[in-house]
Amino acid sequence: MTVTRIAIVTDIHHGKTSHSKKGHAALPLLEQFARFAAAQGADLVLELGDRISDEDPETDRRLQAEVKSALGAVAAPIFHINGNHDRDFLTVAENAAILGQSLGLETVDIGGWRLVLWRADSLIRRPGGFFLDDADVAWLAAVVAASDRPLLIASHVPVSGHSQVGNYYFENNAGHSTYPGADRVRAVLRSATVPVAWIAGHVHWNTVTVVDGIPHFTLQSLTEGFTTAGEPSGTFGLLELAADRVGFRAHGDDAFACTLPLAQTTRRWYPPMAPFDQIPGQVERRARIARYQAEQRTDAGRAAE
Ligand SMILES: [Fe+2]
Repeated sequence: MTVTRIAIVTDIHHGKTSHSKKGHAALPLLEQFARFAAAQGADLVLELGDRISDEDPETDRRLQAEVKSALGAVAAPIFHINGNHDRDFLTVAENAAILGQSLGLETVDIGGWRLVLWRADSLIRRPGGFFLDDADVAWLAAVVAASDRPLLIASHVPVSGHSQVGNYYFENNAGHSTYPGADRVRAVLRSATVPVAWIAGHVHWNTVTVVDGIPHFTLQSLTEGFTTAGEPSGTFGLLELAADRVGFRAHGDDAFACTLPLAQTTRRWYPPMAPFDQIPGQVERRARIARYQAEQRTDAGRAAE
């Protein structure tokens, strides 16, 4: 059985080292990543954005070029996605010129699967935050509607809506962890009749969140230190796409592994029920329990007198 192997690196954050982002380690780790991709027999490589820690337009162009150069050691075809830090001072066109590839919405068929490069708008407006563009949602809806094979959808920003409790950046800034209105994207995914898996970066940790049967994976940043006692995590991802399963692994100091049967990812769940206080039978039942509990308290109060 053919298994397509996709090596993934994300949130490289080449540039100045900060309290949690160990940018000084990015280029040597990218050399290791190129060797990892070759050793794993990767058919394709994905880079999911935030290649740099931005400073100013001139510095950012240099940092981007250094990342491009370091990834030159990757032999497999490589596809890039812009993260928010790639967009603070540089346009999509400037990034595309440096990387030597267009950075628009695109699909690539590989090994029985369709890779969907959902390069949605990743600019953080200041003020304003992320903006979910109707055109990006509509494009994805058309791809999902036309799908005749399993879909692996890749983006910088995750859309699962997963909890950020414990996340160094986002526990107290959850609004910046995803798109406002990401539920619209999940509604599109819900309409899929083929297996679907989603891979994203941005949140700097390894997670899987299953929504409507669809696994949403996030991969740890190459240079993140908040989960690894201040040392760069050195995380390399590997997705294995088979006819009957999808596997996701993170290699490095923040290891992670998860495999799901593909049939399970086509099984849409019951739509969530209404709020309890809006369900007629539930309202009556809750009132009955409340009356009973009130009586119990009264009885207990009398017994204590
Ligand atoms: Fe990042």
